[in-house]
Order: sequence, then C-alpha cells, then structure tokens
Amino acid sequence: MESCPNCGAPHDSPCPRGAQVRQHGNVILQGRYELLDLLGQGGMGTVYMARDLHLHSRPCVVKKLRDDFYREEDKQKAVAFFEREAGVLSKLQHPSIVHILDYFEENYDYFLVMDYVEGKDLHAILLERGQPFAESKVLSWSLQICDVLGYMHDHDPPVIYRDLKPSNIMLDVKDRVKLVDFGIARPVEEGQDNTHVVSAGFSPPEQYWGAADGRSDIYALGTTMFFLLTGQEPVALHPSAPRSAVTSISERTDLVVQRATSQDPSARYQSVDEMRQALLECSLPDRAGLLGQLGSHNKVVMAAALLALASAGILSYAFFDQALDWHGKQLKESERAKTKATREQAELKKRLSAYSRAVEANDQAIKEWSRMAKTSRQAKNEAQATDMAAQANGESDLTDPEGLLTQSSQHW
Ligand SMILES: Nc1ncnc2c1ncn2[C@@H]1O[C@H](COP(=O)(O)OP(=O)(O)OP(=O)(O)O)[C@@H](O)[C@H]1O
Ligand SMILES: [Mg+2]
Repeated sequence: MESCPNCGAPHDSPCPRGAQVRQHGNVILQGRYELLDLLGQGGMGTVYMARDLHLHSRPCVVKKLRDDFYREEDKQKAVAFFEREAGVLSKLQHPSIVHILDYFEENYDYFLVMDYVEGKDLHAILLERGQPFAESKVLSWSLQICDVLGYMHDHDPPVIYRDLKPSNIMLDVKDRVKLVDFGIARPVEEGQDNTHVVSAGFSPPEQYWGAADGRSDIYALGTTMFFLLTGQEPVALHPSAPRSAVTSISERTDLVVQRATSQDPSARYQSVDEMRQALLECSLPDRAGLLGQLGSHNKVVMAAALLALASAGILSYAFFDQALDWHGKQLKESERAKTKATREQAELKKRLSAYSRAVEANDQAIKEWSRMAKTSRQAKNEAQATDMAAQANGESDLTDPEGLLTQSSQHW
C-alpha cells in the first residue's frame, strides 16, 4: 500500500483529511502559500520553502507542526507550543528575529508562515566547511546574539528563548544573525515552567527540571560558542572550555565561555549585558599579542611611522616656539610705541598750559594798561581842570611851562 501524497499515511481510501489544493504538483495552503521545497526537518516539524501567491510570489517559509504523535495528549502539548511560538513571534520585533507572517490550521494540520531568511543556519555552515570558525567571527556573532537576547529579556513581559543552539541561528547574506525557532520560547509571565524541553549539550542543568531564566540563555550562548569555536558538540551538563580543544583560542574568550557555562546559574554572568561587556573586552586587540604577531617588515614600518610621528611633534614644537618669539617681539614693539605716544601727549599738554598761561598774562597786561589809561585820563582831566583854573588865575605857566602835559595827552 502506497503512502498518501496528501497526509503521508498509508491508506487506499480517500484521504480523511480532505484533499489539499495543488498546482503543478505543489501543495497550496489557504489558496495562497505554495510549498516549493523542503528546507529542514526538526524535532517540532517540517520547514518548507514557499511563495506567497497573494504577494507577487514573495518567498516565505512555512513550518508545519509534526503530526505523528502517538498520544493525543502529546499532540495537544505540541499544538500549545506551536501556538505559543506564533504568539511570541508576533509580539517581538527585532532585526535578529525572524518576522512572522501568518498562523493557521488546515485539514487538522498547523502551519506557521514567516519571512524567508536568505542564508543558512550556523550548524549547517560549520558542517559544510568542515572546520570551526575564527575566534573574531564567533565573538562578533555572539555580540549580536547578546543584543537580541537582551531585547527579549527586557521585553514586557520578558521572553526566555530557551533553545539557543547553532541550528536555530541563521546567518543571512549580510553576515547578520537571525533566530528562527521560537518553539519553546516562553514569556516569563506564564507561571510555572513545566515543559522540561532540552537540546542535549546546549541546555543548562536547570532546564531539565523546568526552571529556566535569563541565565539559561547565557549558558546556551556559552555552549553555542564552544561548538562554533571547536566544531565539537558540548558535553551535556559540563562546563565548556574551548581552549582545551583548540589551543589558539585566547585565554580571555576561553574564560568567558567557561563562566557562561557554569553549572550553577549564580556563578554565570547574571545578565546578558554583563556577558556582552566581557565579550567586548575579548574583541579588543591584545597590544602585546598584536606586536608579537607583526612580522619584522611590519615592525620596521611601524618604527618608521613612530619616528615620523615623533619628528612631526618636534617640528611642530619648534614652529610653535618661533611663533611665540615673534609674538613677544611684536608685544615689545607696541609697548614702545605706546610709551612714545604718552610722552608726546604729556609734552603737548605742557605746551598748551604754557600757552594758556601766556594768554592769561596778556589779558592781565591789557587790564593793567586800561587801568593805567583810565588813571592817566583822570589825571589829565584833573590837570586841565587845574590849568583852566590857573589860567583863570594867571598861573598857568608855572604849572606846565613846556606844555608837556598837553603832548602826553595827545599820545594817549
Ligand atoms: N525563516 C527561515 N528561513 C530560512 N530557513 C529557515 C527558516 N526557518 C527555519 N529554517 C531552516 O529550517 C531549519 C529547521 O527550522 P526550525 O528550527 O524552526 O525547526 P524545528 O523543527 O524546531 O527544528 P529543531 O527542533 O531541530 O530545532 C532551521 O535549522 C533552518 O535551517
Ligand atoms: Mg530548530
């Protein structure tokens, strides 16, 4: 008996789930999403490459919840997770979180439609290249992951991702990370966490008994870093030390991974921000290491550059000194000119006061002359009066025998 192309189950009779619409052999869901290719098969379901016929065949991804549950109870649980994934995704908006487009049920199956991320997940990339990634790359992706985890932890209500691992982290064509699988992500407000879902090796111990918090994501970031740096699966329930597998990894990065993967949550970084700071310090160039890495040719170039810098410093000092000297001379010059002007001004003042003194003396002399003229006129008048009196009395020659008084009165 062949398996049904519609539901995959072996039966001869018409499919109990009803026939799905097909076009060129492809399934079309909701009369809109045409499934094109299989992208991945995970624990929760099957992921298809698809296109949205309502939006000019825009590429999208359809995730179908697996339907091979043995117990109805397990199926109900899985449906609840799937619905929660759709709910959580619809509330989050971040460049490193895949964007959800639709969620629906069709023929007893559950589907989630999201943006297509052009790229591959980190697990697939590593397997393909067959070797671990460079430390600088891992640090840069880890910092991006810190950003998105920080966003989720600070969300209202906070969201714990709980499933950070390389296969859930996609890398797009611009080297940006994108988290795609929110199957077990959970808002903290939903109370007691009794899901006990783990990804062996990547999940922290507390998640086995359903007590995840923000520090559980920090642990998973540590184990993810270990995998990316070494290419080895992290050992479940053990702290990870990547330097023990790849000796070229820096001590600083090794210590960050070790601390993040402490079995006791209180020994880990207590917040994503704290871990981000530690990762930033790992990303700073190590000065001693940098010099050691330089070849002898580069060292000569570096020494020449330093020498050039020093010479430029000395030259600019000399120029500055000269400029100061010139400025000093200019100051002295203007000081001298100022003194000369003050001196000339004082001289002028002195001359002016001498001139006004002369004018005053002149005025005084004029006054004196007019006073004397007045006195003389009075004297003349008096003399005339006396003369007239003398003539009248016949004594005029005795008073002014040579006519002097008459001449002097003509002069005045
Ligand atoms: N939006 C997407 N764009 C492109 N590829 C995707 C997208 N979503 C998922 N994939 C690919 O499909 C794979 C499986 O997806 P996902 O992790 O969501 O499914 P899963 O069933 O929950 O897997 P698992 O349980 O193994 O984590 C991913 O590892 C990724 O390679
Ligand atoms: Mg997954």
